[in-house]
Amino acid sequence: MEPKEDINQVFDIPFAKRTYLENANSKLFIKILLISPFILLLVSFTGLRLIRDSKTFSSSFLSTQIDKNNDQRILGHLPYKEISKEKLVVIEPHIQVHVDMSESLLKMREAAKKDGIYLVFLSGYRSINLQNDIFYSLKSVRNQIASERARVSAPPGYSEHSTGFAIDIGDYMQRDTDFEVEFENTEAFKWLQMNAAKYHFKLSFNKNNKHIDYEPWHWRYEGSIEALKIFENSNR
Ligand code: DAL
Ligand code: ZN
Repeated sequence: MEPKEDINQVFDIPFAKRTYLENANSKLFIKILLISPFILLLVSFTGLRLIRDSKTFSSSFLSTQIDKNNDQRILGHLPYKEISKEKLVVIEPHIQVHVDMSESLLKMREAAKKDGIYLVFLSGYRSINLQNDIFYSLKSVRNQIASERARVSAPPGYSEHSTGFAIDIGDYMQRDTDFEVEFENTEAFKWLQMNAAKYHFKLSFNKNNKHIDYEPWHWRYEGSIEALKIFENSNR
């Protein structure tokens, strides 16, 4: 039979030292026993923190993914609420806009006039109902499927025009370019490119948009916190 291994024999140390080793072991054991609650506490605390951090990480990671993959766009258009009627003002017989942008818009037209450029306002606020008619009636009349129609017109509830902060602009001297890409060759468009930002207007649909056609006539106002909040997602 194999002799049982004994650490004291293996190291072949004197008896006195062996006693010392036993004492040391038992002292170490007591020390471990004393500090074990603290170790237990530390391990539990660290564990809880790790679980919490991993949850925070996974939820923020997930929401970033959700934002990236699904920012609520439909056929490339973001959703917009309809402005309340009290915030609308009439600036032309058939054109209403958000009261907060009206002053800046009229100032811009005046400034253009001084430079010999005559801006024409073609379309401002549009209710979701009107947008509904535009989208579905014209889509049907033109025999277009939704994604084709959405290249030129937003689905109801998804138009910047319903916020009151969008305006379509033409050149009084070249009315044949109204709502046409050729508007980009007019003096009015060139003037807008040079000056619109001074009045807090920005072109909404440029040539890089994958889903929506280029609209050189469509400008939106970003000169207030309300407007900036509304267009925050669009500017991302
Ligand atoms: N024409 C733009 C996309 C609209 O309908 O809002
Ligand atoms: Zn427009």
